Amino acid sequence: MLSTVTLIEVPGQDKGLRVALHAADLPTDDIDDEGRTFFRAVSDAGHTIGYAGIERCAGDALLRSVVVLPEHRIQGLGRAMVRETLQRVECSGDVFLATTSATPFFSTLGFTEVPRTIVPAAVLATRQLSSICPSSATIMRLNRPPT
Ligand SMILES: CC(C)(COP(=O)(O)OP(=O)(O)OC[C@H]1O[C@@H](n2cnc3c(N)ncnc32)[C@H](O)[C@@H]1OP(=O)(O)O)[C@@H](O)C(=O)NCCC(=O)NCCS
Repeated sequence: MLSTVTLIEVPGQDKGLRVALHAADLPTDDIDDEGRTFFRAVSDAGHTIGYAGIERCAGDALLRSVVVLPEHRIQGLGRAMVRETLQRVECSGDVFLATTSATPFFSTLGFTEVPRTIVPAAVLATRQLSSICPSSATIMRLNRPPT
């Protein structure tokens, strides 16, 4: 059965967001900064299953802070949550992300690894990529279907 989730926008100060990111070893240092939008994902059964965020970078966007709570993983909910989150991206540019461990997961969603040399300066300048994520993190870009 296809999993569905509903997104509810939450502020960067949201305690559940911070706890979930911290528990998954994802950065929390910059979640209160301007230009980020975060969502709490709720399952059909009404349970909070995880969080995801979008950071605006000039005309492009960074998908970030993607976390599914451990008890809800490997049920297709992460994929459903990311699909919903991508619907909320308002820019017409590219969507990037940085990950140290979930490259295969994001590949199933249409992201492909790209070299840092082709990543726009505004994306490289985000705190996620410039200072928080290790330089060894994989950067991926969403392949959007032609419009
Ligand atoms: C990565 C994460 C969000 C995946 O969430 P999930 O709900 O378990 O993912 P899904 O159940 O939707 O998985 C979809 C597919 O990806 C696979 N997958 C999920 N996580 C994976 C991982 N870390 N490595 C490889 N494959 C993975 C699943 O097996 C599944 O494959 P299938 O359809 O062939 O069975 C979750 O494991 C998580 O929160 N990890 C910690 C935080 C993190 O690493 N976030 C990403 C960095 S921003």
